[in-house]
Amino acid sequence: MRNKGLFITFEGPDGSGKTTISKLVAERLEQCGYASLYTREPGGNRISESIRDIILDVDNVNMDIRTEALLYAASRRQHLQEKIVPALLENKIVICDRFIDSSLAYQGYARDIGIEDVLKINEFAIEGHYPDITLFLDISAEEGLARIEGRDHKDRLDLESLDFHQRVYDGYQMVLKQFKERMVVIDAERAIDDIVNEAVEIIIKGFKNE
Ligand code: TMP
Repeated sequence: MRNKGLFITFEGPDGSGKTTISKLVAERLEQCGYASLYTREPGGNRISESIRDIILDVDNVNMDIRTEALLYAASRRQHLQEKIVPALLENKIVICDRFIDSSLAYQGYARDIGIEDVLKINEFAIEGHYPDITLFLDISAEEGLARIEGRDHKDRLDLESLDFHQRVYDGYQMVLKQFKERMVVIDAERAIDDIVNEAVEIIIKGFKNE
């Protein structure tokens, strides 16, 4: 008898469709009879959402890059303790929209703090709670930016240059190599239904194998 749920994270560049897809996946899992929880980073609870507002506020243009990395890690810690771990203990499938790999790609690589240093502060924050499976929604930086172009509300990171978003993509490629045992690449330049079907199949298989 299994005594823990399954921890799934969705990753990808801005505009990869992560939020839409991960919500649809959580709904589909529920319909198939798997208790699941959709949650997102940065945020997911009151304290972490407050930290999110500070990080993404377009007025905080002078935020130091290490401050940014520490705030993401602090928000992650609170979210993990308050929401993710309790749901896993209830045997749920937790679908988390972004987690540690976002910090490694955005702060570690794209902001040039260094993946290893950002990993250290995040290991302190997550205390071994790595995802069981991470689904990387693969889309080029150009296509991702084109998709967010029409959004009414752009946050501080959406406003970064194409060059920054290209570095985020390259950072993810490093992370994919470093953590290949838990990472699965999904082609995100396809119809949403096809992406959702593929993701659900991978997750159910992972749940049965746990
Ligand atoms: P979202 O657009 O997926 O809600 O995420 C908000 C922004 O925060 C997005 O541009 C990615 C960025 N981000 C990081 O830079 N580091 C992190 O650790 C996380 C979780 C998000």
